[in-house]
Amino acid sequence: MKKISKICCIGAGYVGGPTMAVIASKCPEIKVTVVDVNPERIARWNSDNLDELPVYEPGLKEVVAGARNRNLFFSTDVEQSIREAEMIFISVNTPTKTYGKGKGMAADLKYVELCARQIADVATEDKIIVEKSTLPVRTAQTIRTIMENCGKHINFQILSNPEFLAEGTAIADLQNADRVLIGGDRSTPEGREAIDALASIYEHWLSPDKILRTNLWSSELSKLTANAFLAQRVSSINSISALCEMTEADVDEVAGAIGADSRIGSKFLKASVGFGGSCFQKDILNLVYICKSLGLNDVAEYWQGVIDINNYQKRRFAEKIVTSLFNTVAGKKIAFLGWAFKKDTNDTRETAAMYVADYLLDETANITVYDPKVTQTQMLTDLNYLATREESKNSAMLHSVKDPYEACKDAHAVAILTEWDEFKGYDWQKIYDNMKKPAFVFDGRNIVDAEKLRNIGFKVSQIGK
Ligand code: UDX
Ligand code: ADP
Repeated sequence: MKKISKICCIGAGYVGGPTMAVIASKCPEIKVTVVDVNPERIARWNSDNLDELPVYEPGLKEVVAGARNRNLFFSTDVEQSIREAEMIFISVNTPTKTYGKGKGMAADLKYVELCARQIADVATEDKIIVEKSTLPVRTAQTIRTIMENCGKHINFQILSNPEFLAEGTAIADLQNADRVLIGGDRSTPEGREAIDALASIYEHWLSPDKILRTNLWSSELSKLTANAFLAQRVSSINSISALCEMTEADVDEVAGAIGADSRIGSKFLKASVGFGGSCFQKDILNLVYICKSLGLNDVAEYWQGVIDINNYQKRRFAEKIVTSLFNTVAGKKIAFLGWAFKKDTNDTRETAAMYVADYLLDETANITVYDPKVTQTQMLTDLNYLATREESKNSAMLHSVKDPYEACKDAHAVAILTEWDEFKGYDWQKIYDNMKKPAFVFDGRNIVDAEKLRNIGFKVSQIGK
């Protein structure tokens, strides 16, 4: 079997960084180099102060500290790392296209194509190329075509090895993966050898029966499908949350009751202000786009519904704030607790918070945000990305503070956008005493003890209750 001694990972982001840190920690005999075109990001991965790593994940610091500069390296020298590695992971970003054909739907594959071309240019020996980024089904064909036309007599094997880690639990997900999926060309000895070589890396810490082998296209499509199914569960329970609010049913009780059926299962049934994150919306849009391109309009519409409900849920939450505050939030201070798209991450991509903020800023509210891991610069970058109004207006109307009590002081309402554990333990009496009355709490994550808060005097609104 082909033995891998050097790995290169292109892209030191939320996927590449944690995944390679775990591979390096579990495979001390393999040299793992993570490269990125962004020198600032690489400098932070190399920082002596582990609190400055560009990605915040519980347990990541410890894993990085154990392997860094032993067999885990972070570098901006992309070419050198490609040249020496037998196996190259592509972990670059694949955002939704913001221009041209497929704008707002298709995945933008320009970064992936650039990586493929760079590997083709630099490689002098056989390479196994592993797609780690989530990609539309049949992307491997694009990479393969670039490789086959690079004019070199080198054997390139393309594998799909989608990442299933969830942010906030990335290290645990990697260390105890439910499964690892490897798609490749099983019809040739070289293809089978490449699949086995990648499997042998994961077998350092996972049992072989957790490693699933499929053809390339099944692997690519499984990643999109897994995310679509997970997002669909959230949209399903969120759609029911609207009905609960009209009928005195309690969405958490409904979720508990249906989740007890082993065919349904209890996970991913937490009603919320709406799902965010870099994957769910992007992957479903991608699925919808592919289906439409292939003339499968009914299938496309079915999945589009998952996104539509998510947009509805975010809008519904924001509208409820406005209607509860006597139909106007103009000039009123609204405190946001949380900005990240979920707890235990500093990632804000597609976070519901930015859409709720955008809606409230249209109503000329003043927003003060407290999030334990997200900077004000990032919040404003998110809002500016929506391009709804002039950037100067965003920075005049939204501020972030480092103290949650200061964020809530003199506010008309507190809106909880992220389920950070620390919010539950706050001194809510103190928060109440310093707010304008009536003091409202809009709990977009159903994490506070509503009864307790009502006894203090708050007017509490939760999702699906
Ligand atoms: C997701 C997939 O879970 C992961 O397998 C894939 O590799 C990447 O996409 P991630 O986006 O990091 O991971 O987080 P996830 O835990 O799936 O949460 C996504 C969003 O759904 C978050 O905004 C979260 O708050 C929301 N969510 C999740 C709910 O609102 N309710 C739930 O019950 C679960
Ligand atoms: P993900 O969540 O998929 O990991 P990120 O945006 O966090 O996405 O990370 C992707 C990283 O890939 C970014 O740091 C970006 O600078 C890097 N990147 C994109 N294209 C290239 C390239 N051609 N070579 C090296 N790094 C790249």
